Amino acid sequence: MDIGTEQIDWDTLLEVQDLKVSFKTDEGIILAVNGISFSVQRGQTLGIVGESGSGKSVSTKAIMQLLPRTAVVDKNSSITWHRENGETVEITQLKKGGREMRRIRGGEIGMIFQEPMSSFSPVHTIGNQIIEAVLAHRQVSKQEAREIAIDMLDKVGISNPSVRVDQYSFELSGGMRQRAMIAVTLSMNPSLLIADEPTTSLDVTIQAQILELMNQLREEFNMAVIFITHNLGVIAQVADEVAVMYLGQILERGTAKEIINQPQHPYTQSLLKAIPRLDHLGKRLTAIGGDIPSPLERPGGCPFHTRCEQAISGVCDTQIPTLTPISNTHTVHCFLYE
Ligand SMILES: Nc1ncnc2c1ncn2[C@@H]1O[C@H](COP(=O)(O)OP(=O)(O)OP(=O)(O)O)[C@@H](O)[C@H]1O
Ligand SMILES: [Mg+2]
Repeated sequence: MDIGTEQIDWDTLLEVQDLKVSFKTDEGIILAVNGISFSVQRGQTLGIVGESGSGKSVSTKAIMQLLPRTAVVDKNSSITWHRENGETVEITQLKKGGREMRRIRGGEIGMIFQEPMSSFSPVHTIGNQIIEAVLAHRQVSKQEAREIAIDMLDKVGISNPSVRVDQYSFELSGGMRQRAMIAVTLSMNPSLLIADEPTTSLDVTIQAQILELMNQLREEFNMAVIFITHNLGVIAQVADEVAVMYLGQILERGTAKEIINQPQHPYTQSLLKAIPRLDHLGKRLTAIGGDIPSPLERPGGCPFHTRCEQAISGVCDTQIPTLTPISNTHTVHCFLYE
């Protein structure tokens, strides 16, 4: 276990370097995450976008050490967590169920899952779960914690919060349970919130309400967020920085403005074209042509070349593009810019 007191940059909260995750399956080895690097600063929102299977969930589950046993994290991968007190913790070196990892999972990093059902305790009321989280992380009385819990439930769009607070998770509908779970996670007041497609199953009004609540908490507590979605349109509303993932790799990274206004990678450009626009609802969506290759048969060269309209034959299919800077904050992996 590596806990030092050295601190290089006080603003950096999380640093992921060359993260590689593979799965051993009966059909062969699936390389789900293929050497991604990124960092998250305090109070910042990093958006991760990409189509299904690009490795968004696997990357963030690696951060929380919540991967199944069949997952192998490469020994050269590093995930460094910088605590507020200056301690740095190398997450890949921690024991899954050990004290340090529990401390991180129990409040320092909060995660809202794509599948909400799994993480609720069936034996405690919704309210008690929030109250416990509040009491563990804030200096308030039990009565105040209960009021915060009711307010939290109200803020995530649960009607009748003063009644719901005493109910159990099985008494709530799926959508409400999702929102209650968001309330529990947010009331831990984490330094980093990982939100994995937190709103896709919710209706548009509630989605907006939850994004608003996340923004509010970000400002109030300087919370950092990793926000995962398929939809670059949602990213535009919430993220400072964006990483675009495809087949386990980050193809482009930049500020949200750069990615939305000056997308460089053909993949990012196609994702932007695929955003459903309210003023275009009658028209057909421009989906990205071609199929995502099977993770068991990763294409050589640039992973996107099999679907790229601008692919250069003999180059993109055989060589791996290196990182090209577009600006101080904007980088792309693509031969069109090398
Ligand atoms: N337990 C597992 N066993 C084998 N392969 C897995 C496992 N979990 C994920 N994978 C594979 O890893 C790759 C990345 O999956 P991941 O769930 O991270 O994608 P994602 O970007 O989150 O997609 P989505 O948008 O659908 O949630 C996929 O090819 C997936 O099939
Ligand atoms: Mg996912």
